[in-house]
Amino acid sequence: MSSYSVTRCICHKRNFEEIKEFAEQQSFSSVEELQAEQFCSCGCGLCIPYIEMMFETGRTEFEPGEYYKASTE
Ligand code: FES
Repeated sequence: MSSYSVTRCICHKRNFEEIKEFAEQQSFSSVEELQAEQFCSCGCGLCIPYIEMMFETGRTEFEPGEYYKASTE
């Protein structure tokens, strides 16, 4: 893992741990549901692919651009 990790939605000032916990409490399984509550991902949208990976893997820390690398392998 690189020295810099992607761990948060910068626009909403929420880390992925907090987002994962909220999603679990609400039984959410998509970014759209989080956006509907305006909990995260309503700003620049750069966090969206990472949050999608969070739902897929349960992880809350990612390498920058990891989703892109995964989609090209
Ligand atoms: S980083 Fe999440 S919307 Fe900008």
